[in-house]
Amino acid sequence: MLINGENRPGTAQIGGLQEVEAIMDILKFYDITHREHVICNPTNEEKLTRLVELLRLPPRAQVVDIACGKGEFLIRLAEAYDVRGTGVDLSPFHLADAAKRLQARAPRAAIALQAMNGADFKPAAPHSLELASCIGASWIFGGHDQTLEALNGMVRPGGWVIAGEPYWRQEPTAEYLAACGCAREDFGSHATNAEAGERRGMVLVHTFVSSRDDWDRYEGLQWYAAAAYARAHPDDPDVPELAERMAKAKAAYLRWGREALGWAIYLFRTRARGE
Ligand SMILES: C[S@@+](CC[C@H](N)C(=O)[O-])C[C@H]1O[C@@H](n2cnc3c(N)ncnc32)[C@H](O)[C@@H]1O
Repeated sequence: MLINGENRPGTAQIGGLQEVEAIMDILKFYDITHREHVICNPTNEEKLTRLVELLRLPPRAQVVDIACGKGEFLIRLAEAYDVRGTGVDLSPFHLADAAKRLQARAPRAAIALQAMNGADFKPAAPHSLELASCIGASWIFGGHDQTLEALNGMVRPGGWVIAGEPYWRQEPTAEYLAACGCAREDFGSHATNAEAGERRGMVLVHTFVSSRDDWDRYEGLQWYAAAAYARAHPDDPDVPELAERMAKAKAAYLRWGREALGWAIYLFRTRARGE
């Protein structure tokens, strides 16, 4: 996973031109390294299928997926339940991909894809949605706790809050923290990620925890995609930087990240009135 500040698209503020250019640069890197992914997080297809099955949404439920990426989760919700709603992302590359895939698989779905900072999304009214999710981009709200707080505020009593978040499987070494550019405090444990929702009165009903195999797929596809891009675009002046960043990320994953970092999707139900 691209976890350091430099690689987190959402950490940059959209302000002056320079900052926009910096964001485009990061978004280009992310686009190139995720060309082979449909699910842009370490969850596998089977777990995503099971997550969608368990939601049992009423037809035409209103949903939002913040940082929807290529829209796979949202498209599956549209296919299974004919949901209405919004996918929000900052990447024009991912949104273009999402729009193409939505058109091919659920052309009549009432889903709007919006290019915007997820932190600025507000539903028509607080506590009005059936489901709000943010899978793999909690920096948008300033961390896992704040993400749950924000999503909880969007969802009606008895609705779904879904967050995908890394966690420490073991204490990270100083070397790993330096290599990935993150701090020990950036992530909690699997238990504290779960407790963060329960502290807000939500009920944790399931977790989808990624295996090493799932992680290897997620990371390996990035190496593959970056190498394929470099071969196909030898004249792109960004290729040396792409190769250098990828080499560092690969070494950090193989040396430490594979043991130290976990990933799960946390499925919370908000309490129905009177519950
Ligand atoms: C790890 S990917 C996850 C994508 C998708 N949720 C999935 O699981 O396939 C992170 C996504 O967050 C998006 N993103 C980053 N910062 C954002 C922001 N401030 N607002 C909206 N989207 C953002 C990126 O463009 C990228 O698509």
